[in-house]
This record gives sequence, structure tokens and C-alpha cells, in this order.
Amino acid sequence: MKKHRILGAVAAAGVVALLATGCGRGGTAEPAASDGAQEPGGSGQIVGVAMPTQQSERWIADGDNVRSQLEALGYSVDLQYANDDIPTQVSQIENMISSGAEALIIASIDGTTLTDVLAQAGDAGIPVIAYDRLINGSPNVDYYTTFDNFQVGVQQATSLLTGMGVVDENGERTDEAGPLNVELFAGSPDDNNATFFWDGAMSVLEPLIEEGVLEVPSGQTEFEQAAILRWLPETAQERMENILTVIGDTELDGVLSPYDGLSIGIISALTSGGYSTDALPVITGQDAEVGSVQSIIAGEQYSTIFKDTRLLAEQAVAMVDSILNGEEPEVNDTETYDNGDHIVPSYLLESTIVTVDNYEEVLIDSEYYEESDLS
Ligand code: BGC
Repeated sequence: MKKHRILGAVAAAGVVALLATGCGRGGTAEPAASDGAQEPGGSGQIVGVAMPTQQSERWIADGDNVRSQLEALGYSVDLQYANDDIPTQVSQIENMISSGAEALIIASIDGTTLTDVLAQAGDAGIPVIAYDRLINGSPNVDYYTTFDNFQVGVQQATSLLTGMGVVDENGERTDEAGPLNVELFAGSPDDNNATFFWDGAMSVLEPLIEEGVLEVPSGQTEFEQAAILRWLPETAQERMENILTVIGDTELDGVLSPYDGLSIGIISALTSGGYSTDALPVITGQDAEVGSVQSIIAGEQYSTIFKDTRLLAEQAVAMVDSILNGEEPEVNDTETYDNGDHIVPSYLLESTIVTVDNYEEVLIDSEYYEESDLS
């Protein structure tokens, strides 16, 4: 049985509106040096910061946080966004190198396309920090800071199961035996993180699929089938629409979505396809973007994963500051992130599952958002 269809058009329009909502501060940290408490170590050295896109709040918050924290230490910052276009990112990095950057912090678009430009950085002795996303194939990647990406996937799958009542709040299996219908989405295949999220999620979901507790009505259980190039919400919406056409009247209980932007597209397809907003499947996400936290509060999206961009920026800035001061940056993982050339010494941070039950504690008490950002 299909549900009400009336909200479809409204929700489709909402994709654009929610993505454009830029009202949250996204936890942008203010520069800390103005009280003179922090001794600037940068003395005007230029740090190039290459970010992928401004289409998603998270990267805007990342850029702002890295910039303000570097400036607080006395560095000059060349922050560039590449509009998710690979040649643009390459030429931005080239420009940073030629205009005298002494270190680079890079969140890549496609982790495999920077080898040549990073060779120039290597020749010029400029240290390179991979930010959030690993840069693959290049010998010129010195350090990496990110979240524990496999664990992010585990958290996404765990919250999917909690939302569907398959596990309880302690993570224990309930007597829910299914079969429950779920569809699976993955991130961009050129983003190294996407396979980590997927592998983490599938480490939780696959045994339940084998057991028959979960079913995937479309039959699309391979990463390649589930992946959404460049993390585009409209591509996720299209794929969800196609799946709904293929599975007909089969009702979905859950959708694994690895990113809030995709979740918005998925919700749009579902409401256009007949689901009412108060009876959507359990839908996950990532990044705690304002529009999606509002959706969680409204009871539409079920969960997201909060990654505190202030802390990630702090690690990247600390790495740069250490290197430029001739010190060894702190790392906590020297095994996981092999970029095809070498294992990149990494600092991994922890992420947090957010639902309607804890968003105030996690997002507002931590001052990442103000209550008014979310209303
Ligand atoms: C990041 C995620 C983000 C995704 C889409 C990934 O590399 O780790 O936090 O949701 O890109 O921007």
C-alpha cells in the first residue's frame, strides 16, 4: 500500500530550499588570539587551504574553522573552494604553490587526481596535509587528519537498526525478526571515505541480510550500484525514484544514507512516491547539517552523524603548526590509511550519532549551533 501523495511537490521544492539554508553557524570558531593569550607562531607564513565545495554547509564550516584557527596563530590563509570541479581544484593548488604557500591543507574532490600538482609541492618542499579525505596515489602526502570513517559507517548502520527496532538503545538485538525492507546508498566512488563508510555500515548490515532480518527489495547490494557520484542530492533522488518504480508497492522500512544532502534527495523521492512525511522509512545521514537536523526535529530524517569540524580544523592546524616549527605532528593511527604509495600517518577523531533524543545535548550544549539556528 502506497501512502499519501500530496506532499511530493512540496518536498521536491524543499530539496533546493533546505540545501540553500545557510542560517547555521556550523560551529564556526572565532579566532582565539585577540586576547593576546595565544602566542602567534605563524608570523605571516602563508598556508593554502583547498576545500571541495560550498554546496554543503559542512565544508563552509571546515574552511571557516581552519582559516580562523590559522589566523589566530599568526598565519596568512589562502582559502579556496573548487565548486566540486577537479581542474579548478588542481589550478587553485598550483596557484597556492606559486604564490608562496609554505604548507597545504587539502580536502580533495577526487582523491586520485592530485599526483602531478602535489609533485610540484614536493619539489618545493611544501608539506601537505590531507584533510578529511585521503589523497591517493601520491608520495607527497605527509599527514592525514579525519574522523574514524569505518566507525562512521558502523554508526550509520547502527542507528538505522535502532530506528527500525532491530537493536535497542544499548545496541542489543531485540526480538524483531523482520523481514524489514531497506535500500542502501553510498557516497561518491572517487572519495576514499565513501568505501570506508560503506564497509563500516555493511559490517553491521550484511549479517542481518544473510539472516533474512533485512531485505533489499531492489537487490542492489553492491557499492557500485549504491554509489552517488560527487555526493549529489539530485542523483540520490533520481536513484530512489527509480528504485521505487522497480519495487512497486513494496513498503520500505529503512534507507541507509551516508550524507545529509543525499537524505534530502531521498526524502524528496519518497514523498513524491507516496510516503507521507510522518510515515517515512528510517533514514540516516551524516554531517548534522542545519536542514537535516531540522528534518530530524520534524520527525522526517531519523538520524545523522555529527563530526565536529572545529576539532578537525584544530588537528589540521596543529599539524601545520608543528611541521612549520620543525616538530613532529601528533598522530594516533599509523596503520589504516594506505594511499597506494605509503601509509599516511593519521589523526582520527570520533563521531557521534544524533537523533531527536540527543541533538540538544550534542549540537547546542557544545555550541556548534544555537537553538535559533535550528528553528
Ligand atoms: C565527508 C563527509 C561528507 C561527504 C560529502 C565526505 O568525504 O567525510 O562528512 O558528508 O564527504 O560531502
